Amino acid sequence: MANSKYEYVKSFETEDEVMYPNLILLRIHGRNFARFSEANDFEKPNDERALNLMNCCATSVLEKYPDIILAYGFSDEYSFIFKKETKFYQRRASKILSLIVSFFTSLYVVKWREFFPHEEIRFTPSFKSRIICCPSVEVLQAYLAWRQRECHSKNQYNTCFWMLVKSGKSETEAHDILKGTQKQEKNEILFQQFGINYKNLPSMYRQGSCILKTEVDETVKIPDNESPVKRLRKMVKIVHSENIASRSFWNDYSYLCKELGCFEQNVNNIKHEYLKLFQSENKLLPFTWIVIRIDGSHFHRFSDVQGFEKPNDELALKLMNASAVAVLEEFNDIVFAYGVSDEYSFILKKNTQLYQRRASEIVSAVVSFFSSTYVIKWKELFPKKELKYPPNFDGRAVCYPSYEIIRDYLAWRQVDCHINNQYNTCFWMLVKSGKSTREAQSLLKGTQAQEKIQMLSQLFGIDYNTLPVIFRNGSSVFWDKEMMVTDNGVVAKSHKKVVVEHPNIIEDDFWGAHPLILEVTYPRTPKERSAIINTVSLLALAGSPKWFDYGSTQRACCCLHGGTALCQWSGPCTCSWKLQHPIMRILQHMVHNSRPFAHPIML
Ligand code: GTP
Ligand code: MG
Repeated sequence: MANSKYEYVKSFETEDEVMYPNLILLRIHGRNFARFSEANDFEKPNDERALNLMNCCATSVLEKYPDIILAYGFSDEYSFIFKKETKFYQRRASKILSLIVSFFTSLYVVKWREFFPHEEIRFTPSFKSRIICCPSVEVLQAYLAWRQRECHSKNQYNTCFWMLVKSGKSETEAHDILKGTQKQEKNEILFQQFGINYKNLPSMYRQGSCILKTEVDETVKIPDNESPVKRLRKMVKIVHSENIASRSFWNDYSYLCKELGCFEQNVNNIKHEYLKLFQSENKLLPFTWIVIRIDGSHFHRFSDVQGFEKPNDELALKLMNASAVAVLEEFNDIVFAYGVSDEYSFILKKNTQLYQRRASEIVSAVVSFFSSTYVIKWKELFPKKELKYPPNFDGRAVCYPSYEIIRDYLAWRQVDCHINNQYNTCFWMLVKSGKSTREAQSLLKGTQAQEKIQMLSQLFGIDYNTLPVIFRNGSSVFWDKEMMVTDNGVVAKSHKKVVVEHPNIIEDDFWGAHPLILEVTYPRTPKERSAIINTVSLLALAGSPKWFDYGSTQRACCCLHGGTALCQWSGPCTCSWKLQHPIMRILQHMVHNSRPFAHPIML
């Protein structure tokens, strides 16, 4: 396909490959699950159905992805471990964490009914995920020991806590009783006050669940007079074991040793450095627009299996849009979304502090919530079409530093929409008219936009510009004011609402009419105003062509963020600093002298 002049925005994408020989570990955990379990009346402290649902989803993940060979979970979390040699999505962290969390979430919604046959799912469930890079099998062993200890101590605490509450104590009283208690004391409370022997509680609650891939011998059917052929078949099995990080447990499973390595010793104390590693996370560059782009995984196949119309299925696109609307309603910091085909880009406001800008948390939460909504809303859009299998999406985060570049990013996606839609419309018209797919491909090879438009008009009498705008322009989702107009034309009230429109987002008109979407809110605390402006930040500004318009239009604003000065351009200026603010004079100096100050400047 042709390249557009906006293609350069791809260079802002960063690599996040987990380098070999690190082991790839993925951890998923429920997002707002306290609220979700409350709303769905989960039993406390453990709901067997909910745990079985988690186990069932994790089992399906292992069955679908051959490279995942072990999973361990309890409560609302699950960890998945890939074999050492994996090349799964070329070991790219965001691909892996998003695809799996998305699949897990879709499964959770699809399988809900199996475990809760009489209850509608309340609230959209979603999960967060992250990749933990394990430099050795010893570190992996420490991780497993850490998670299983957490399972044990949390379960013991929660069992005591809820027994105390059920016996009449208030939640605060129960907390106070348990504060600072050791394991043994908790066991005694359970035994003496409630006649419960902790060790007799179900092992799934106390030890969590471990899902393993094993190899079993299988005899393959052969003709009568030949000797039987044996081959190894992979099997997924679930076990509850007291110490999954022990040598005796691990080394018993030859497949684990083969794919990950054997455990040399038992773990006693988990090193502090390892705990730091397990909890460290990358943060996205401050004061940049964050784009989360998600894309359907193998949607070519999914669309075929579901019988979507070609080249565009309006209902399928509307399902994507409805899911995007739900995402905007859920995450207040997402200011705009643009979608086409099986992809959606979500833009977070420039100064968002969502999850402290941790990349994997933002990506996974968005992709998981989107996937969940897609599956939940499926039957609204396709009441007569069964969802054949749970779809999933991948996701990535990319940071864009300036207004011009984020606009170019969106233009890039819309140009891509034009190019693909023109191609696909021609392609499918040719195929429907009797050409083979190969003939259609070769007829279209190397054609320009204008030739395709002519082809449609001359061969099929189709005026491309009259095709539904949702196909040609894609969909834009954003918050807008909804006016309630009374019969006599008076605006009675207005409130904000997420809307779906199909504007041209390449040109300026739409943005001129909606200046607030990409507006930056200006920090005004005394600390921020007195921030040190350093040469690096001023250099960044010197490259902005918009700044040079400043004198003529007086529409530039500037703001300070974490010691960095940046120029923001967003239609009529609402910033009270304007010209009189010292930074404007600094900027003028830079522009006129074409060079920044040599030293940091205190405002
Ligand atoms: P990966 O994203 O790499 O996993 O592959 P993919 O199969 O999802 O393909 P890609 O994302 O490159 O392109 C999206 C694909 O989804 C299109 O090529 C179509 O096959 C399919 N698709 C998306 N929307 C529609 C639709 O409305 N109708 C039909 N029939 N297919 C669609
Ligand atoms: Mg796709």
